[in-house]
Amino acid sequence: MKKKIVVLSGAGISAESGISTFRDSNGLWENYRIEEVATPEAWNTNPELVQRFYNERRKQVIESLPNPAHQFFHELESGYEVVIVTQNIDDLHERGGSKHVIHLHGNIRYSKSSGPNQERKYYPINGWELSLNDLCDEGYTLRPHVVWFGEAVPEMDKAINHLIDADYLIVIGTSLNVYPAAGLIHYVSNSCKKIIVDPKASELKVDSSFIVLSKSAVESVSELKKIFGLE
Ligand SMILES: NC(=O)c1ccc[n+]([C@@H]2O[C@H](COP(=O)([O-])OP(=O)(O)OC[C@H]3O[C@@H](n4cnc5c(N)ncnc54)[C@H](O)[C@@H]3O)[C@@H](O)[C@H]2O)c1
Repeated sequence: MKKKIVVLSGAGISAESGISTFRDSNGLWENYRIEEVATPEAWNTNPELVQRFYNERRKQVIESLPNPAHQFFHELESGYEVVIVTQNIDDLHERGGSKHVIHLHGNIRYSKSSGPNQERKYYPINGWELSLNDLCDEGYTLRPHVVWFGEAVPEMDKAINHLIDADYLIVIGTSLNVYPAAGLIHYVSNSCKKIIVDPKASELKVDSSFIVLSKSAVESVSELKKIFGLE
């Protein structure tokens, strides 16, 4: 049976594809405060701004390409069972070839209803633009399929089930500041081998059992290939 690798990724893995991270810009997301664009309150008070913000992010994602770090996790599938648990709302893991991706915070290429009780029905967005006139099957306005701050994270249980029997955990490109996602690293067993990849790894809250690669995601690929016998 193949050994299982769970990858917990964050905005940093897509930085070298040209998509800005969140913490590296002083807690602003593309010059917006998260309260203005990434909360249910923001949607209720200014849906035009929120829709425009995510339309711009979607356009940027569509114009970006997966980088060698995304592609490396696809290559790993030749010898391992690989499950990607990503906080990213971009689809660069999928476009890098990864078969099994869990999006904790949603996927910007999809929309969902802003009405009640339809949490798990997602509609693919054709192109980059979602309009406030676009409606779901039940007639409610479509909103981006993104988990906003203060909302439940429906994929957490699925992620936990993969972490508890992981042989390896690779944490890459996340500041481990956003909960509950950051708490996932505590679900692995004592025998799980853990690696963290982040240029600022020394500043992150992880214990000494992690192998630390203090380089960018792309710069770490050759080291990761050695660790997993791909070279
Ligand atoms: N690409 C995206 O989908 C995207 C982009 C920005 C924000 N977000 C959202 O904002 C939240 C941000 O939390 P987060 O922890 O994912 O990101 P974060 O912005 O809080 O932290 C990014 C981390 O990546 C590291 N990093 C920067 N450049 C890197 C590189 N080239 N290689 C490897 N690591 C690098 C930084 O040192 C930092 O620790 C997430 O919930 C996410 O949904 C998503």
